[in-house]
Amino acid sequence: MALLDIRTYGDDVLRKKSGHVEKVTPELVQLAEDMLETMYEAAGCGLAAPQIGKNIRLVVIDISRPDDGDEKHPFIMFNPEWEEEPDSEPVTVEEGCLSIPEIWINVTRPGKVTVRYTDEKGEAREINHCEGIFARAIQHESDHLDGKLFVDKISPADRSLNESKLKKMAKKKG
Ligand code: NI
Repeated sequence: MALLDIRTYGDDVLRKKSGHVEKVTPELVQLAEDMLETMYEAAGCGLAAPQIGKNIRLVVIDISRPDDGDEKHPFIMFNPEWEEEPDSEPVTVEEGCLSIPEIWINVTRPGKVTVRYTDEKGEAREINHCEGIFARAIQHESDHLDGKLFVDKISPADRSLNESKLKKMAKKKG
């Protein structure tokens, strides 16, 4: 196990489209486990491969709260694809990202989704009726695989409120 460096806003790797994973190898499973360890260490509930510098379609998610004594419940998802369910309603809540530290801003997203992905054993999986933080994490992490960040989805008012913080963060990358 190893802790990985989390790339931050302004890093080009966060803006690239990630490539499809053809085969789940032991090396990729190890990478996913290192991503989970990195995510737990940073007290996040999701992490996508571009955030640790790899443009491949891999995300890890755990919405349990191990810090509060909950049992861990990790998901490793290769090539995740989600779709909104017919009775889904839009939900607006504050969202953050380990690559954009200390910024929390309202984002509206579909409230209920189905996700399909390949698990760490290389098996196809489908989870229906994902809601709450889980539905949000699936969408947020999937966005990372297409080079999108949550700050792309905020209102113009929130954008101008946070513009200088974001510019400063991007500048630090040089
Ligand atoms: Ni993120």
